[in-house]
Amino acid sequence: MRPSLLLAVLLAPQVARGAPLPLTLDPSRLAQIRFSIAAPLDEIVGVSTAVSGQVRYDDATGQGSGRIEVDLSRFRTGIRLRDRDLRKEFFQVDRYPKAVLDVDALDPALPGLLAPGRDVAADALGSLTLHGVTRRVRVPMTFRAGSRAGRPLVSAKGKLEVRYEDFGIPRPRMLFLKLGRRVEVEIALAFVGPPGSPGPAIAAVDLPDAGLFHPGAVLPVAHLARPRRRRLQFAADTPEGRGERLLDDPGLGGPGNALTCLSCHATGDETERGDVGKDGTIRPAWSLWDAAHRPKLWQGLAPDAGSAAALCARLFMLAPGGIDRGRRGDLGAYLGKISPDDVAPPLDYRVLAMTRKTGLKDPVKGDPARGRALVARFCESCHAEGAVRPPLTPGLYEADDIVSRVRWLDRVDSHQMPPFDLARLPDAELRDIVTYLAGNEKTRIFQREHPVAATP
Ligand code: HEC
Ligand code: HEC
Repeated sequence: MRPSLLLAVLLAPQVARGAPLPLTLDPSRLAQIRFSIAAPLDEIVGVSTAVSGQVRYDDATGQGSGRIEVDLSRFRTGIRLRDRDLRKEFFQVDRYPKAVLDVDALDPALPGLLAPGRDVAADALGSLTLHGVTRRVRVPMTFRAGSRAGRPLVSAKGKLEVRYEDFGIPRPRMLFLKLGRRVEVEIALAFVGPPGSPGPAIAAVDLPDAGLFHPGAVLPVAHLARPRRRRLQFAADTPEGRGERLLDDPGLGGPGNALTCLSCHATGDETERGDVGKDGTIRPAWSLWDAAHRPKLWQGLAPDAGSAAALCARLFMLAPGGIDRGRRGDLGAYLGKISPDDVAPPLDYRVLAMTRKTGLKDPVKGDPARGRALVARFCESCHAEGAVRPPLTPGLYEADDIVSRVRWLDRVDSHQMPPFDLARLPDAELRDIVTYLAGNEKTRIFQREHPVAATP
């Protein structure tokens, strides 16, 4: 380094002292705004990382101010229909696209905040603008400073409670039955200052990521969660042992995949349409027990069990390239071990083909109480707290939409939810499920402008 430059860096702290330091959001760390609304049966959690903003902080006076904006159209709750409803009916993003937090002071002032490595607390005082209404707020925050390559970093975490009626956000007609009146908002931001600015230039510690939310806590879709621990039969260094471990590995699929073989297949000896596993659920596809010794797999499309698995990876696990040869072999070895009978009857794929052409008559004339139990049995291997998808919420869905998803009648989004064939989930049971999940016109969570006719 040239001496003059070195000098400039060394002098920078003194030169800059007294001038507020501009801090921008650190592009290398996710800023996160998370809201949750308590509900009797469930909690709605939404996350947005579409945050922008800038603040200024004066290390000498310990005062800070600034503005943080959140794009309300980018909140995700894990259920697409609910996201749409939140955008349209709750936030009304067409008219009020953003929430804005203007901070004008810290209470108490925090001089020397930028000394790295310790948590300091203060309330951010300012105003929140939401839904066209501006109100004063006080947000308890904790800050922690560090530095990277001579630039100061500050993480800021805070929590505030918003009564959405205070902001003129209408309660959708029946919503009050389902939801609490308060929204708890959590904020996790990371700021970065200009190079050579005062304070933290003295310490080279990087900001620990623990300052932000734990990723598992952020995503409402807990696709990071692994299924419960299984008792394993085979040693990890044998082909069958490796195959056994691959069975609950979402990494077999492509980017964004959350499913594993065990999301869809049981491995026990099934009777009729399937055992109720130890967790009380019935999987959407048939058990892999004896699969290796069926005369035909996937209607003959797959020459062996490993190739059948690769086909599933392509169809359902977002892996267009299937599974590589080595892991196909390992899966095949394991499937061989759970196929004790020399011959096993082939699956009847005509049922699956027929399923995809059969609509459901009177979809909401079933028994909602039975439907509730059946949802636990058929759907909760994937739709549950901590599973692949968040729990299904009654009153949120259109009847027709549920039927076409479960039967794959038309449009299927990412093909991650498998079709339930008529033999495993007969019409009468699907009708109960749909009746329970669709709710009725009076108890629907959102009264849509153009509700799809529930009964034809
Ligand atoms: C999203 C659900 C889903 C996932 C994930 C999935 N499968 Fe499948 N699999 C199916 C469906 C549906 C079929 C068609 C037959 C049926 O309904 O069981 C099938 C068929 C098969 C077959 C052929 C059965 C036969 O007799 O024709 C095998 C073997 C198989 N899967 C193994 C696996 C393995 C191993 C994995 C993990 C790599 C896996 N599958 C992942 C849904 C899935
Ligand atoms: C093997 C896992 C799995 C099972 C079992 C499963 N689902 Fe799903 N479901 C998904 C996935 C994954 C999605 C997200 C859409 C996609 O990626 O295809 C989804 C989406 C949905 C949606 C749309 C929600 C939204 O995001 O708007 C509905 C409704 C639904 N499932 C209903 C059901 C019902 C009813 C059952 C039981 C009969 C069921 N699911 C069983 C995996 C599953």
